[in-house]
Amino acid sequence: MQVIILENPDEVAEHASQWVIEFISKKAKPVLGLATGSTPINLYKKLVKSHQEFDIDFSHVTTFNLDEYHNINANNEQSYRTFMTKNLFDKVNINDKNTHLPTCHQDENPRQQGFVFEEKIKKAGGIDLQILGIGANGHIGFNEPSSSFASRTRLKTLTKQTLEDNSRLFKTGEYQPTMAMTMGISTILDAQYVLLMATGKNKANAVNEMISGPLSAKCPASALQLHEHAIVILDKEAASKLPDQDYYLWANTEHQKINQAYGLF
Ligand code: PGA
Repeated sequence: MQVIILENPDEVAEHASQWVIEFISKKAKPVLGLATGSTPINLYKKLVKSHQEFDIDFSHVTTFNLDEYHNINANNEQSYRTFMTKNLFDKVNINDKNTHLPTCHQDENPRQQGFVFEEKIKKAGGIDLQILGIGANGHIGFNEPSSSFASRTRLKTLTKQTLEDNSRLFKTGEYQPTMAMTMGISTILDAQYVLLMATGKNKANAVNEMISGPLSAKCPASALQLHEHAIVILDKEAASKLPDQDYYLWANTEHQKINQAYGLF
């Protein structure tokens, strides 16, 4: 695991955007795994800016989002499709046909829908770079604690904590879905590179369990310890409970020399 500790959320987003830009500039057919939530919003702002100011091209990019609420219309204000459209897809020159979310409506079989989504990822050649956030309970995507490390795209029931954490995004009285389709942990681990961003004090415990804790279904993000290329970008607050901060800072300075000479990946 490459643990990068930066000063603040803006630096985290800036560094993550460099990774994304490097992938989409160097690969002929880049496939990105995308995330929703508050954390990646600044990353998407940086990507939009680099498209507008430096002509970074998205026309050859294919995307797969981690998750989508169960039985929600694409044009619903709360759907993750709407989130992606507003924050990224409508603001860069990506082809909508190349953007995918794991949808499942009331009359559809979630197992079949999960399978279809997995097949689409395979057909695209697999995910090159998967963007991730982390929940305060250690979830990645909507893989809540107790999720199997072998899980693949499926329907999950959200925990009370996740529902509470996300309730800030819903108006009083507005329906908040309690189930979601999500890539599984195994789907995420199949990506060639995974890049997890975490900012703020409320993520510090989950970040410490992910990096220093045992492999455990209690902290689904700890599965990233098994990944060959996991990059974890943190601000100081999210890193504040890590016992080995000095080591990570020093290792990262050393790593930068390699990156400067040979590129990020
Ligand atoms: P957040 O969510 O970015 O809104 O904190 C992260 C997550 O739940 O994965």
